[in-house]
Amino acid sequence: MIRIATRADLARIGEIRMAVRENQLSDPGKIVDQVAWLIDRDGFWVFEQDRAIQGFSSADPRDGSIFALFVDPACEGRGIGQALLSEACAALKAAGHAKAWLTTGHGTRAERFYRRNGWSETGLTDNGQIIFELRLAD
Ligand SMILES: CC(C)(COP(=O)(O)OP(=O)(O)OC[C@H]1O[C@@H](n2cnc3c(N)ncnc32)[C@H](O)[C@@H]1OP(=O)(O)O)[C@@H](O)C(=O)NCCC(=O)NCCS
Repeated sequence: MIRIATRADLARIGEIRMAVRENQLSDPGKIVDQVAWLIDRDGFWVFEQDRAIQGFSSADPRDGSIFALFVDPACEGRGIGQALLSEACAALKAAGHAKAWLTTGHGTRAERFYRRNGWSETGLTDNGQIIFELRLAD
């Protein structure tokens, strides 16, 4: 049910990105180039059921980061986020990274989700986001 995303999926990816209530994007225009770079290099995945995309993830092999993880609010709590995150982490490991990192907002469902999944807080960004890291197992 997880497959590599293509440019044809971008409209639905954008829809889910705008539907989430936490970690919302203030200026989608800022990430257009990075999204295009990643999607053209098989760095985006979608979770699809009955031909409907319910969430997506993305990992950037250049710096070992999880670039995105978003699940349609109507589909949360079914394990979709965990499955998409595992796929993104596996890709970073295959690209030679020993650890993955990401940033997320304080007091969000995502913060709790990452802690439960074994991620450790390593600091804060300039704008107060939590930096999380995960060692990618051998
Ligand atoms: C954070 C986020 C990605 C989590 O996605 P999700 O699909 O709800 O996550 P999961 O379902 O894998 O895990 C969440 C819960 O569902 C539970 N779950 C997992 N599989 C399940 C299943 N098959 N049936 C029922 N529950 C399940 C998990 O145990 C977990 O439960 P808990 O909260 O009681 O510990 C999602 O809430 C989201 O997109 N948030 C908004 C955007 C965001 O903040 N993204 C991160 C930006 S850095």
